[in-house]
Amino acid sequence: MRSKIVAGNWKMNKNYKETKVLVKEIKKSIKRLPLDNTRVIIAPTFVNLSIATKRAEKSAIEVVAQNMHQATNGAYTGEVSAEMLKSIGVNTVILGHSERRTLFGETDKILTEKVNAALENELEIIFCFGELLEDRKSDKHFEVVKSQLENALFHLDALAWNHIVLAYEPVWAIGTGETATPEQAQEMHAFIRKLLQEKYTTVVADNTSILYGGSVKPTNAEEIFSKEDVDGGLIGGASLKVEDFTAIIKAI
Ligand code: PGA
Repeated sequence: MRSKIVAGNWKMNKNYKETKVLVKEIKKSIKRLPLDNTRVIIAPTFVNLSIATKRAEKSAIEVVAQNMHQATNGAYTGEVSAEMLKSIGVNTVILGHSERRTLFGETDKILTEKVNAALENELEIIFCFGELLEDRKSDKHFEVVKSQLENALFHLDALAWNHIVLAYEPVWAIGTGETATPEQAQEMHAFIRKLLQEKYTTVVADNTSILYGGSVKPTNAEEIFSKEDVDGGLIGGASLKVEDFTAIIKAI
């Protein structure tokens, strides 16, 4: 079901104590907001998922993971499985973030395996993808986005899309302060929705939430969110400060 979503990707930030403080602050600041059809999500680091989940109880905050390994279990030192996430009450995982792709070598093939493992374990997926600056400069951005979706997601059946949220994140806009213009975001989101309609059905296309990510801030959130095919945002830097994160939630 298509819903509005503001998701904070905390990346490798906030220790145990800081996590408790920030969850408490967000809980307090969104308490009286009319959230209606809006989901508020935070993605702390693995070690703090349990405490964040506990502290977010009795609030609208959903706590999700930033990543997971594709195997069920076994000799994968340092990794975390889908089943482990489920076992501590985490029901959603972010996959395919550009930092995972570029810094940790996650290919479309690996992401396909992760997508399948997440769905087998009944985890919802926030799937990230987006072009590099050079792709946009050479006018290949539509082609790149299409292939990222086709390679990792288009083997799925229509029903699986009930458990998938898309997050378009042009890599050149992540952590750079440079944001795609609202028109650039809308143009790409409309393109993505059309791909879903062509590959699946109008129902799948209409029901899939498509988030924008890349330097979303209190000053630009409202304009980006006002676009027809933008259903919310995946927020990095600005999700680490309660005032900024709350302002972005209010902008939706
Ligand atoms: P940013 O990060 O908001 O700091 O640009 C977005 C993301 O990486 O999801």
